[in-house]
Amino acid sequence: MRYNICVMPGDGIGPEIVAEAMKVLGTVGEKFGLEFAFTKALIGGAAIDATGGPLPEATVAACKAADAVLLGAVGGPRWDTLDPAIRPEKGLLGIRKALGLFANLRPARLFPELAAACCLRPDIVGKGLDVMVVRELTGGAYFGEPRGIEERGGEKVGFNTMVYAEHEVRRIAKVGFETARKRRGRLCSVDKANVLDVSRLWRAVVLEVAKDYPDVELSHMYVDNAAMQLVRDPSQFDVIVTENLFGDILSDEAAVITGSIGMLPSASLGAANPGLYEPIHGSAPDIAGQDKANPLATILSVAMMLKHSFGEAKAADAIEAACAKVLSEGYRTGDIMEPGKTLVGCKAMGDLVVARLG
Ligand code: IPM
Ligand code: MG
Repeated sequence: MRYNICVMPGDGIGPEIVAEAMKVLGTVGEKFGLEFAFTKALIGGAAIDATGGPLPEATVAACKAADAVLLGAVGGPRWDTLDPAIRPEKGLLGIRKALGLFANLRPARLFPELAAACCLRPDIVGKGLDVMVVRELTGGAYFGEPRGIEERGGEKVGFNTMVYAEHEVRRIAKVGFETARKRRGRLCSVDKANVLDVSRLWRAVVLEVAKDYPDVELSHMYVDNAAMQLVRDPSQFDVIVTENLFGDILSDEAAVITGSIGMLPSASLGAANPGLYEPIHGSAPDIAGQDKANPLATILSVAMMLKHSFGEAKAADAIEAACAKVLSEGYRTGDIMEPGKTLVGCKAMGDLVVARLG
């Protein structure tokens, strides 16, 4: 099989981590008889520098023509003072919308080898920490109209609209239920139905979809309580499904409590390919270009790509196993370094994973 992958390295450490993930794909391809063709495209600050905007038409076209998209990271202090309309983040939001990537899967799990880095008490994580956040990605306050800042009664007023149509809730709820079905069978829908009308509709639609999934145990939680429960007892969660803004916040929280945000991959999926795969962490401009970044989140993101976009579960498992092996042998990048372990750079970490695929 031959797969076309559009690669967008982006900014900061993006190019370094993406290079390692491509290396891993090359090796896994040889091993499993898969061929990968790569096309590069510009996004974020790199695109602003080259073309004046964060998401050139050519990038959208290249992504649409691909079977899957691999993204490094976007943003950095160099572009922070630009007009909001052309900030690097706009490129990311734009490509999500252009590709119809409404479902964002963000697994937050504790790697046993890195348990010491976890910032929760051992008795709390002892019960397990393996949560999948399913975040709605193309609706809600991020995209809702009307939005803006305008003059009203002699002062400026800023506003956004959190809006969801039934079909948008239905399709993300389905992803939530399907995901739960493949895991431990529990789905928690997070909303703010005690205050927000949009959440009342959300809950009603989720309850309707639930009728098709009698085997999945559904619960509902208000977002403020969910934020608290995630640190109090994360073992109660299997899959969380929630709207865009709540998911943005809760997925960062879920990721950081594992203690290894540099390890966590993500997948953004639409109704059909291409899906977009990227590490959860950002562009880390402070360490960019120094061969210090942790490439494992990006490498694990291509494992998600193999599984979700290409149905190549065996190849995906091989990558995950190789990453686990490297960790169990004691190799660490700076972000996950502990006394007694072996510090390696970004390239060396990629090489170690490649060697253990063989
Ligand atoms: C994320 C990021 C983005 C978001 C930003 C960079 C636009 O925080 O992917 O979670 O808010 O969705
Ligand atoms: Mg975020």
